[in-house]
Amino acid sequence: MNTSTFSPEDMDFEGRYVDPHYSGQEDASVELSLRPKTLNDYIGQEKVKENLKIYIDAAKRRGEPMDHVLLYGPPGLGKTTLAGIIASEMGVNIRVTSGPAIEKQGDLVALLTNLDDGDVLFIDEIHRLSKQIEEILYPAMEDGAVDLIIGKGPSAQSIRLDLPRFTLVGATTRAGQIAAPLRDRFGVILRLELYTPDELAGIVKRSAGVLDIGIDEEGAFELASRSRGTPRIANRLLKRARDFAEVVGNGTITKETAELALARMEIDPLGLDNIDRLLLTAMIRNYNGGPVGLDTIAAAIGEEAITIEDVYEPYLMQIGFLSRTPRGRVVTPAGYKHLGIPYQGKIEQIKFED
Ligand SMILES: Nc1ncnc2c1ncn2[C@@H]1O[C@H](COP(=O)(O)OP(=O)(O)OP(=O)(O)O)[C@@H](O)[C@H]1O
Ligand SMILES: [Mg+2]
Repeated sequence: MNTSTFSPEDMDFEGRYVDPHYSGQEDASVELSLRPKTLNDYIGQEKVKENLKIYIDAAKRRGEPMDHVLLYGPPGLGKTTLAGIIASEMGVNIRVTSGPAIEKQGDLVALLTNLDDGDVLFIDEIHRLSKQIEEILYPAMEDGAVDLIIGKGPSAQSIRLDLPRFTLVGATTRAGQIAAPLRDRFGVILRLELYTPDELAGIVKRSAGVLDIGIDEEGAFELASRSRGTPRIANRLLKRARDFAEVVGNGTITKETAELALARMEIDPLGLDNIDRLLLTAMIRNYNGGPVGLDTIAAAIGEEAITIEDVYEPYLMQIGFLSRTPRGRVVTPAGYKHLGIPYQGKIEQIKFED
């Protein structure tokens, strides 16, 4: 089983990198230093922060751990970061594991019984816990205890083991896949939203400060507006733009160096990359812009359906290039326009077919 304890100050655990925009090893260590450690340093997600502040304050006043928290939203928006912040604001340690890492009931029982009073237990990808493991979690979350069966056959005995008080923080990109009984045991459910370009510009500037990278306002905004609403991507573009600024510029990221770097990475003015464009183009060329099912799109472009749903779709829907209908996905007129493909032909064709 893969778990680890960290004090919030040296929170050197890594997020997952399901994000295909993630570019490699070098970024992993840098990502750690970029994680904000307090709510004040955490930019954007204002509603989430306001509520969290109150819950944390109230729990501290009562001298109790905070209620269990479920964080959900697309990859790279700051779920893992927020789990660390909750622990650090509460002044407790965080223990980190993930759904697929907990294989046996005993693994989870060991984890729970070894917590210190008030600790945060962070379970990433919590939608991937098995039924069996979830059953241990229910009484643990609700009654602060686990039920163990000791022995076998007629002499088997059930004993109840009291646990230290703790806060479970669960994170998932797919809230829909969490069983209702588990979801209902979270007192706090927070949904993270894609960030605005202004918020992302703030994140880029903060990260540039941490990494000692020179960047001007326009440069920061250029990177931010092409980051698909996602801090992890913003940080990655910042690092690549630095390379260009150092090699072909004067070391400071300006609008020009940012544009150059983004063009080389084939990221267009709205932040779409090759795969986004391939996805939209394939839908238009092969399926007349839709409606077309997710699995069909996945097969057509050779990506996993889950990746398309978690990583590509949220942003394409946010900017209004893609919409979901009961019959499948559809490319919108705005999507056609962005790709420079006339929408007219499509309308006629639909009329003709109908
Ligand atoms: N609100 C924020 N302010 C500043 N930086 C942020 C913020 N949110 C995320 N980041 C940065 O983005 C990176 C990715 O965040 P994080 O790993 O917490 O995302 P995640 O939601 O857990 O992603 P995944 O679903 O892939 O696990 C972090 O390195 C962090 O530095
Ligand atoms: Mg994470």
